[in-house]
Amino acid sequence: MRTPLIAGNWKMNLTLREAEALARQVADAAAKYNDRDVLIYPTFLQFVSVAKATAGSRVAVGVQNCSAEKDGAFTGEISASQAKDAGAAYILLGHSERRHVIKESDSFIKQKVERVLDQGLRCMLCVGETLAERESGNAEAVVLDQINSALSGIKPDQWKLISIAYEPVWAIGTGKNATPDDAQKMHATIRKRIAELNAAIAPGIRILYGGSVKPDNIGAIMAMPDVDGALVGGASLKADSFGDLIKNAK
Ligand code: PGA
Repeated sequence: MRTPLIAGNWKMNLTLREAEALARQVADAAAKYNDRDVLIYPTFLQFVSVAKATAGSRVAVGVQNCSAEKDGAFTGEISASQAKDAGAAYILLGHSERRHVIKESDSFIKQKVERVLDQGLRCMLCVGETLAERESGNAEAVVLDQINSALSGIKPDQWKLISIAYEPVWAIGTGKNATPDDAQKMHATIRKRIAELNAAIAPGIRILYGGSVKPDNIGAIMAMPDVDGALVGGASLKADSFGDLIKNAK
């Protein structure tokens, strides 16, 4: 029912030439499977070249962020409509590095969600708790607050544009994972909350897991019934490991 989605978040990595080459290799790897979707998030500057390098392939290309504003005098920003115009298939929002390093608030992320949905673009919303929040027993409350804040009040016909990436902050780039059981527990909790917000959409919405996903652990995590894919940082930057992630993602 839910097609698995393997997404690579390239963050602020790679030269233009490296990005183009990696995009072509990802397209070759993705061509071997028609039962799973593949998505990459290059930087804004790499986006157009990467989209060209993957044109006609099974790889979708998205952007890692967008402005909370529509257009106008916002130096250094890029709008959702500009991302759409360039051909972006998805916009990633609320990544933990933007929440915790750049200090984006829930209300600011909500504004961005609205900009993306106004454009009819797909929004991948990242949520996740810090280690302190997990250790104090607040992980579920934190994640559900992030979901409520970003998604309550969106229009019924916009829900089909939403996917979620659950990424525990303490697992990102650290080599530490949530256990498959812990991931499943949180994903089921998220799906239940989505059902409360929109019952019809919940069974079909894709919820990805992220945080130190590697070729050797993706299989166990994706075997969980509510885990529909992976959002991968470090291991998406090399063609062989991303190819193995795509291969093992069932
Ligand atoms: P990681 O990053 O796979 O390097 O932990 C995941 C992410 O930040 O999306």
